[in-house]
Amino acid sequence: MNVIRTIDRGGFGYVEEVETDTGERIARKSFDPIGAAPSDLPNLRRRFEREVRIQSALTHPNIMPVLEHELSSDPPRFTMPLGSESLETKIKNDHAAGIFEPSPWPDVLAAVEELHRLGYVHRDLKPANVLLVGGTWMISDFGLILPTMRDTTILTGTKSAYGSFGYAAPEQAQDFRNTPEQADVFALGCILHDALDPTPNRIPFTQIRTTGEYAPLLEKCTEVDYRRRFPSVAALRAALFDLWAASSAPTSSVLAGDILSNLLADSGSKDAWRKFLTHVEQQSDTSDRDQFLRSVNSELLVKLQTIDDVLFSRAIQLVCEWASSSGFEWSYCDVVGDRLLEAYRVANVRLRAVIVLAALELSVSHNRWHVMQQAGVMLGGTAENGLVERILIEAGIDNSIEKKLRRIEEGVRWPRSNWHEKLRDYLSNKDNA
Ligand SMILES: Nc1ncnc2c1ncn2[C@@H]1O[C@H](COP(=O)(O)OP(=O)(O)O)[C@@H](O)[C@H]1O
Ligand SMILES: [Mg+2]
Repeated sequence: MNVIRTIDRGGFGYVEEVETDTGERIARKSFDPIGAAPSDLPNLRRRFEREVRIQSALTHPNIMPVLEHELSSDPPRFTMPLGSESLETKIKNDHAAGIFEPSPWPDVLAAVEELHRLGYVHRDLKPANVLLVGGTWMISDFGLILPTMRDTTILTGTKSAYGSFGYAAPEQAQDFRNTPEQADVFALGCILHDALDPTPNRIPFTQIRTTGEYAPLLEKCTEVDYRRRFPSVAALRAALFDLWAASSAPTSSVLAGDILSNLLADSGSKDAWRKFLTHVEQQSDTSDRDQFLRSVNSELLVKLQTIDDVLFSRAIQLVCEWASSSGFEWSYCDVVGDRLLEAYRVANVRLRAVIVLAALELSVSHNRWHVMQQAGVMLGGTAENGLVERILIEAGIDNSIEKKLRRIEEGVRWPRSNWHEKLRDYLSNKDNA
């Protein structure tokens, strides 16, 4: 391999741009800690190896993949696709141009959500660790994903023990090993703050205090007590998209605006729901429908379920039709998928079947990793027998269902063993047929 240039040098090692035998430009990260005591080297090296092994095992479109690694060479190193820019430079350029672009956010959120799904906490999210490859944003730098007891003492001064100043949550400074996943939510709030504010004044480890329409969201991300932050990436995503929907969508008519604002002002009222659902059911204009249904977030749906079964059922029908027939921008699919999964959790078997079919259609038609995963979860080992049997009956009528199940197996490497046993048998019998 031909070294073109050193891209960056950190406390742990350096990253170079290299050219392969076939002339392809890629990135190579090599282990080379500066200033570490010789007695700490074996431990740091093990940590580097762990970083590589974990990063290699993660397969997600928004997580920087490892192409090849040489862990026993000296120095140990690995290669990755070459990022063309980091979120840090994008944010600088966007501020210079006076714009804020939400486009990286769905990618970043999807990646962090995947880590959390697997029980990992990244702990070092910041704009410099988010890189653009092709048209896709990927999170990178998994050096702090598995902290060990010794790191706290040896890493100070090289790569900080607790993550990066300016992005790390207060609890990371105190008990780094037991950092909850909401520490990443804190960092995401700080990154968003950077993107929104050209002069983001922040006091490290304290809650963001700011003004403007994003203030409540930024403050909630960075609550000092992690239990008061958004509990999950999905909750943060929903809040962000609600904000974007509210600021971009003027309501089509005075009547429609009233119906929606009545509902949002009093979402516990059956009457407000009835008026709203009737109005949406009667909408022939799909863009009006779309705009209305975007407002019905998971929180509202879950609340409706506790208020009235029949109204909930009507709402689910509408949401599912909308989910399976709309050409959403791909980034919005994740939000719709989250909503379907939340509704699934509180729905009865009949509605679950409707939701599963919509999730299958949405995930496969938009080729969206996150939603495929969610559809997989809905039909996983703990799904009710009745639900799975129902889906199998549908599969007998509509052969696109089998194809969708197989697309999920390939698309997200959903192992056959993850499906409910009846689906596993069904697919295996089809294989043998
Ligand atoms: N695949 C890549 N393509 C382009 N630049 C990269 C790549 N990986 C890392 N870099 C650059 O090198 C810097 C350091 O890499 P990183 O993995 O974050 O190491 P460190 O643990 O030293 O922070 C990154 O902030 C980024 O600017
Ligand atoms: Mg880094």
